[in-house]
Amino acid sequence: MTMNNYIELINDKLDEFLQIEYPHALFKSMKYTLMLPGKRLRPVMCLEACKIFGGDIEDAIPTACAIEMLHSQTLIHDDLPCMDNDDFRRGKPSNHKVFGEAIATLAGDALLTYAPHIIVKFSQNLSPSVKIRILNEYFKYAGAYGVIAGQVVDIESERNIKIENKEETLNYLHIHKTSDLFQLAMRTGAIIADASEEQLECITDFAKKFGLAFQIADDILDEISTFEEMGKTLGKDKQEGKLTYVSLYGLENAKCKLACLLDQCRDIMVKQNFNSNIFNDIIDNISKRAGI
Ligand code: IPE
Ligand code: IPE
Ligand code: MG
Ligand code: MG
Ligand code: MG
Repeated sequence: MTMNNYIELINDKLDEFLQIEYPHALFKSMKYTLMLPGKRLRPVMCLEACKIFGGDIEDAIPTACAIEMLHSQTLIHDDLPCMDNDDFRRGKPSNHKVFGEAIATLAGDALLTYAPHIIVKFSQNLSPSVKIRILNEYFKYAGAYGVIAGQVVDIESERNIKIENKEETLNYLHIHKTSDLFQLAMRTGAIIADASEEQLECITDFAKKFGLAFQIADDILDEISTFEEMGKTLGKDKQEGKLTYVSLYGLENAKCKLACLLDQCRDIMVKQNFNSNIFNDIIDNISKRAGI
């Protein structure tokens, strides 16, 4: 499978799993952000992790799509005026700009619960015990120990709020707001492929480092990229006084840290012998876009 094959498959399945029903405003709002052209990295990496460990990617499709739904929820809520207050997402007006804040908030809530329901409803090929394992991963990484914790510390880290240990706080918030969804994606793909505990540990380490690198790249691109490239308003992190690798260490040091993490990801792949052109291409693409 090429990256484009994966993306096509995911887009078709997302469209199929989320039909417009009554109340129409809710379903239209849920589907709006979901179907805008995101990079689909998390579902692609879920399916690829399944493939690497010898699984059938068909079995992982509902889980991969559920993770993209969860990701879309985090984006809808992240853009709300009470959070990052961003008017654009994926090149188009943000969800609340189109549907209003109340519906956008509720569409996010709905996606958060619709996603695990998709796993339960459509994963016919998974045994009950594997389904429970997957749901357990979902609830762990989506909730108060995962992305939500990261987003809370991100908001708390904005200027005017006193932080004791900035380095530790920055690492915590990046790991949770971003790495957790990559860990969820690759761990569930591996679990569906019946990977061993050792394999699971190594893909978790890979996903954690990759997610951290991904957020550092996003913080760098917030300073150096363009609206056309990113599809969102840039320069907001600086404006809002966000705690990022760039604000704490400077642009050049952030690039060094990013290069080092991407190298560590490549090393894990070589040492653990999971060769993936898809993962290699994704890593190379991030490195190129961030100018390292
Ligand atoms: C945006 O994620 C949120 C971050 C974690 C920085 P992506 O950059 O993967 O967004 P899409 O899915 O391509 O829109
Ligand atoms: C996003 O971090 C993390 C989540 C949405 C969970 P950012 O706030 O940096 O993402 P962008 O830059 O708005 O995409
Ligand atoms: Mg944010
Ligand atoms: Mg944001
Ligand atoms: Mg950002």
